[in-house]
Amino acid sequence: MSKVVVLGSLNMDVSIEADRIPSAGETLEGRDLLLGPGGKGANQAVASARMGAETLMIGSVGSDLFGSELIDSLAHAGVSTGYIKREAGDATGTAVVIRSSGDNRIIVSQGANHSLGVREVGDALSVVAQPDDILLTQLECAPLVVWEAIRHAKSLGMLVVLNPSPAHAIPADILPQVDLLCLNETECSAVTGCQQDGEESYRRSLEALIEGGAKRAVLTLGPRGSAALDENGYYRIPAERVAAVDTTGAGDTFVGTLSAFLSRGHELREAMEFATKAAALATTHIGAQGSIPTIEEVESAFGKDGENEWDTSNN
Ligand code: RIB
Repeated sequence: MSKVVVLGSLNMDVSIEADRIPSAGETLEGRDLLLGPGGKGANQAVASARMGAETLMIGSVGSDLFGSELIDSLAHAGVSTGYIKREAGDATGTAVVIRSSGDNRIIVSQGANHSLGVREVGDALSVVAQPDDILLTQLECAPLVVWEAIRHAKSLGMLVVLNPSPAHAIPADILPQVDLLCLNETECSAVTGCQQDGEESYRRSLEALIEGGAKRAVLTLGPRGSAALDENGYYRIPAERVAAVDTTGAGDTFVGTLSAFLSRGHELREAMEFATKAAALATTHIGAQGSIPTIEEVESAFGKDGENEWDTSNN
């Protein structure tokens, strides 16, 4: 079993529910305020650790209270935090999440996430990485640092899982170094330039990503499940029906679970099936990191044989 090394962001999430998204100049009353640990990198690291993979995170927080809380949250989930930098001159990353009608809108203040430099990430990877370990990364740290980390990871013999989120174009020389690209519809449109409007567009976009050099690609489609293109061709995994209350962190749960299962040598399809269940379960609680289930919680909710024992009455 190889380990999962996550390079990515840590944010404190300020999350609030509203009946609708306010218009320009409008103030709305919200409810169910939650202050909790988040950040795409940290959420994916927690998911990976809760699915039983040895997980280490490379990241950066400010030397403030939020930074300490975010590191504690990772350590509590079993993630190794020795390569998370405390940056005195920056505030810890913060995200404002507005939840409305079962969906969310997020604005991020990058803060210390963008203070990680190419050299310190490269030095950390050189020390911790073994061939066949997974580098799991996203785009909430500076993209230039991420691209360089991917090049370095490949030179060390690592497998690269890239979740290009938030949406950003990917340099042409990076795609051929990506072993698994996992992205949602918005991100897929940003990377391929193709609109996602149905089965044919999903298949064509995934084909374009593979033609661009990615070894395998997975497109997540929310309530419509996910689609993949790998050495077995194009296939779909249906979504699980659950009583969803908040989708924040569900995509991160999916990607972190995928990486944990791949680190244990599972086939991509099998990893996607379990990741779909884990992500569905994450939507049944409010918040990002706090709602990511353990492997045992997923098995007990859905049964080891994959049968859904979860309450679907609200859907
Ligand atoms: O993907 C969800 C995450 O995006 C939130 O936890 C928030 O911090 C933003 O980074």
